[in-house]
Parts: sequence; structure tokens; C-alpha cells
Amino acid sequence: MAKITSVRGFRDILPDETPKWQRIEEKIREIFFNFGIQEIRIPILEKTELFKRGIGETTDIVEKEMYTFLDRGNEYLTMRPEATASVIRAYIEHHIYEKDPVAKLFTIGPMFRRERPQKGRFRQFHQINVEFLGQETPRIDAELMSMLMHLLSEIGLGNLKLEINSLGCDKCRPAFREKVTSFLEDKKENLCEDCRRRLVTNPLRIFDCKNESCQEIISAAPVILDFICAQCGGHFEEVKKYLGILHIPFIINSRMVRGLDYYTRTAFEITTQSLGAQNAVTGGGRYDGLVQMLGGPDISGIGFAIGFDRLISMIPDADGQDAGRPNIFIAALGDKAQGFAFSLCNELRLAGIRAEMDFSDRSLKSQMKRSNKLSCSHTLIIGEKEMEEGKAQLRNMGDGTQETVDINDTDSIVTVVSG
Ligand code: HAM
Repeated sequence: MAKITSVRGFRDILPDETPKWQRIEEKIREIFFNFGIQEIRIPILEKTELFKRGIGETTDIVEKEMYTFLDRGNEYLTMRPEATASVIRAYIEHHIYEKDPVAKLFTIGPMFRRERPQKGRFRQFHQINVEFLGQETPRIDAELMSMLMHLLSEIGLGNLKLEINSLGCDKCRPAFREKVTSFLEDKKENLCEDCRRRLVTNPLRIFDCKNESCQEIISAAPVILDFICAQCGGHFEEVKKYLGILHIPFIINSRMVRGLDYYTRTAFEITTQSLGAQNAVTGGGRYDGLVQMLGGPDISGIGFAIGFDRLISMIPDADGQDAGRPNIFIAALGDKAQGFAFSLCNELRLAGIRAEMDFSDRSLKSQMKRSNKLSCSHTLIIGEKEMEEGKAQLRNMGDGTQETVDINDTDSIVTVVSG
């Protein structure tokens, strides 16, 4: 029968890859704990309206990339393309702000965007997402970016490049939008079809277009930093000042607009040259109007999401550390020894030891081969003689030393194996 393969852009993360994911996730959780960031777990499915309103109806994500379907209950649902809108929905729905408007939340999990799959870009990908709510001070912007830089270098990412911009606010953006529109109006014949449409619906999105001729046109366009209001300008100056105080190097990229409409003021992205990768490993920014836009009170926020898949591909494997070696292999020869080893294996596992055995009663040589393949730290050989005497040799595979152990005394085996 023909085999059934996975869906394009959706991939399996195989058993020899998962230890690396776990190791990095553990490290990240530890750092979040130290910074007082609490975990929130949110559903994968949300009402489509949440993303339309949150991310913006005329963004690429909402226009082209969402997995949306009409549920049997006649309601449009969407597999989340990002986590921010959902975290804010939960923050409002559960009145988290009533106890304390200041909240630092993180969530880790899969997101879904129907983009064209390529290296580092998937249709199901994973994000490590952080949101800081309830603090408007530019110190928070600097604190968040500084923590992110610390986190990325702690987990082994080098050559980090932090780019920042200010996207202004509801007050100053309309004037900039008008400027861009009038600049592009007489050049629209040379814009791609999408950008001609964007010119009417959402001209800022043209800055993100990958099309070469659009890129060339937009490279001469006015930039938002020249149009932001005094308050937004002041905020941006302070962000730069505090980044300096925290010794975080940054570059100003006045053309960075980010692909989501909720951003106000600070926007940032981090790229890395590690392993030659060029793609942004993380992006984020401030979204001071989003809580209100989703039906909550006037509470500001700022956050980021790290692309977990990209992060994993940029971090070298930790030799041996990721292999997950069993502690003991029991080579059992003959029916009686096999039966005994079966229950000893179980007892050792219950005592917290990673134990393996071979059920096929093969020759000692092939069982030893299996033990080597699994890179077990110890091997216990039990044959007829050992069953009669109740004693066996426990071999340390690292230094080749042997010790006689009482095979009925599980505790003493545990003691030797745990070193
Ligand atoms: P974003 O820039 O759309 O921001 O995504 C953040 C990161 O997710 C990207 O920098 C990238 O590493 C990764 N990513 C995005 N799409 C894909 C894909 N198709 N395949 C693999 N990795 C991908 C957000 O999602 C915002 N919610 C971030 C944020 C949180 N802003 C404020 N709070």
C-alpha cells in the first residue's frame, strides 16, 4: 500500500533530536524563573476574529497564511499563527490585570502559518514567547531586550545583532502613512500586485515586501523615525539610553516595520551569523493599544517570540550530553536468567535507574554489541552460573573495572551504578 507522509511544511522531530530541544527548553525555563516570568498555557485553536482584530486584517499572516476553517458549530476557528493575541485574550478573559496589572508571562509551543516552506521556515513551527504587561516605562523595553540577549548567548548563540526601530503610535503614524502613500503613488506601476493593493489597505506593509523592484522603490521612501511624535521620540531616546546603560549593543534599522499591526513604538529583531544563518531568530516589540483593542482596559505591553526551530538549528549539539545514555544494560543468557532480568530491569527503573535488556536471548556477543550501541555506562551479565550463585559481575564500561554484586540486592546495584 502507498505510504502516507506528513503534510508539507509539517515535520517530525525525531527521538535523536528531542534531547536537544529538551536541554535548551530547560535552560530557558530556568532563566525565565530567575527573571520572574510565569508560564501560561493557551489553546492552539482560537476564534478567527481574535487574530483578525489583534494581528490586523491586512497583514500577510491574516490575509494569506492562517489555517482557518468553519467548525461544525458554524463558527470560524483558526490554528494560532502566533501567541501574543491569545496571551492577551487570556489576560483579559481571566481578569489577570485585576489582581495586578503587571504580569510577566511566557508560553512555548507550536504555531501555524501557511508560508512557503524553505530552510528555517515551516508551516508548523515553534515559538518561545514572552509578554511583559502593565509597564510603559522605556526601562522595561531595555530590560526585555537585555534579558533576551543574555538568554540567547547563555544557550550558545554567538554573533548576535540587535536591530531596533520605533513605529510611533496612533497619533503619529497616520501622518507617516500619508507621506509613504504620496511618495509611492506615482511609482505604483512598478510595485508588485500585492503592494499596489497594500498601498490602499496598509502601506507600511510594503516595507516588508521581498520583491526586488518593491525593495528598490521603498529603499528611497521616507522613514517613520522622521515622523514620530515628541512622546514616541522621547520614549525611543530613553530606550537607547537604557540599552547603553545595560551595555547592550544595537543598530537602528529605520525600515524595520515587523509583520504584525499591533506594534507601537519599540520594535526589534535579532539576527545571528552563527552557522551562516541570516534569518531573524527572534522579533518583538511594544503594543500599547492591543489590550484595549481586544476588549480589555488601557494596559501597555511589550514582548517577543523566539523561533525555536531556528534556534535549534543554530546551536551545535552538545557532545554526548544530548545522547541520553542508559545507566545499565543487563545481558541475560538462558530462560531462567531472562525471566530474572525482566523483573530486575523493572525494579531498577522503579528505583530511578535507566535500565535496558535484550529480550531475544541472543548470544553474549550480540547482547554486548547492543550494550555498546546504546553506550550504557554499566553492563551486568547473568547466565546459569550467576543464577545459581546469586552473584554476577557488574562492569563499568567507561574504565573496564568489574565488581561482584548480589543480583538479589537491587539497592546495592543501584548504588554502584549511580556512582
Ligand atoms: P514574528 O516575527 O512573526 O513575531 O515571529 C517571531 C519569530 O518566530 C521569528 O523571528 C522566527 O524566528 C519565528 N518564525 C516565524 N515564522 C516562522 C516560520 N514559518 N517557520 C519558522 N520560524 C518562524 C511574532 O510572532 C510576535 N507574536 C512576537 C511578539 C511577541 N511580539 C510581541 N510579543
